[in-house]
Amino acid sequence: MNKRRTCILGTGAYVPEKILTNDDLAKIVDTTDEWIMTRTGIRVRHIAAENEATSDVASPAALRACEAAGISPADLDAVILGTATPDMLFPSTACIVQANIGAVRAAAFDVSAACSGFIYGMALGKGLIETGQARRVLVIGAETLSKIVDWEDRNTCVLFGDGAGAAVIGACEEDRGILSINFGSDGRLWELLHQPAGGSRMPATVESVEKKKHKIHMTGRDVFKHAVTHMSGAGLRALEEAGHTGPELDWLFPHQANIRIMEAVAKRLEVPREKVYVNLERFGNTSAASIPIALDEAIRGGHCRPGMLIGLVAFGGGFTWAAAIARV
Ligand SMILES: CC(C)(COP(=O)(O)OP(=O)(O)OC[C@H]1O[C@@H](n2cnc3c(N)ncnc32)[C@H](O)[C@@H]1OP(=O)(O)O)[C@@H](O)C(=O)NCCC(=O)NCCS
Repeated sequence: MNKRRTCILGTGAYVPEKILTNDDLAKIVDTTDEWIMTRTGIRVRHIAAENEATSDVASPAALRACEAAGISPADLDAVILGTATPDMLFPSTACIVQANIGAVRAAAFDVSAACSGFIYGMALGKGLIETGQARRVLVIGAETLSKIVDWEDRNTCVLFGDGAGAAVIGACEEDRGILSINFGSDGRLWELLHQPAGGSRMPATVESVEKKKHKIHMTGRDVFKHAVTHMSGAGLRALEEAGHTGPELDWLFPHQANIRIMEAVAKRLEVPREKVYVNLERFGNTSAASIPIALDEAIRGGHCRPGMLIGLVAFGGGFTWAAAIARV
């Protein structure tokens, strides 16, 4: 009998209805559709309504993943949610999703790993499954970054979008599943991408709000360089651990941050451009949600089919990075 493996049993995604185009942004800040498209590859992004929080986008994605996996939320043993924009500091957004979907038997908790949150969550879920502590784990990446974006800062407000993606993972003993996960972080670089206020370091005050300390602060050029280096490094290590090479991948799902980052990573992994799944143009950078949204779209669209070898690579604030190789 094969070693106990963890498989992706079903995926789901959800994005808010409202769409914000580059031309809409050009009315708010000094930018153009041409600048945003050539520098990032983003054309439109979905933006949550005023009363829509992260759990509200996560819950429909979670239900769709359960449906695709053919299970009831009551069958879940754990709900793990990666996000940088939780509904509130506590309780976890995972607990709120648990209540929304009726995952009554599950342990629920959030993972704080910014844009790498979905793969970090997969690593934890895989561990629970392969040590026999859980049979079915729901892993979600969900964000409403529009809530913490400074809509007067053209360096950041053009990049991000809202949405959620989810996957039910579970034990399987077939010749497929998640073959390897490699992840890491470098906390020395946390200041390059962070939200200064709202936690214990800088609780909310009139001054913190006035100084926009509750918004995303980012040094874009440095983030760019580190993203390429660390996504490529994690991807190569995960490939090696899985006993595969980049050219063998049927699909690479990189975190959808910037088309130039994605192409640079694909080049280092020796994955041809046509095998890089890109939906960034339509969603922007949805942080922890970007990989599961792309994966769900590729599976539902019939592009990613059973038996295919796929790679997932992510990078985010922390800095954090992660990569996974799986046979779907
Ligand atoms: C943000 C990013 C797109 C900027 O692209 P870039 O090619 O590095 O551009 P630069 O930072 O060198 O800025 C070039 C100029 O464009 C300007 N600029 C920035 N945003 C702009 C916008 N939306 N529209 C027009 N001009 C803009 C800058 O002010 C700068 O002008 P200056 O030279 O007069 O100061 C790029 O650095 C990036 O994608 N970084 C990674 C961000 C990311 O992915 N973060 C999340 C990681 S999970």
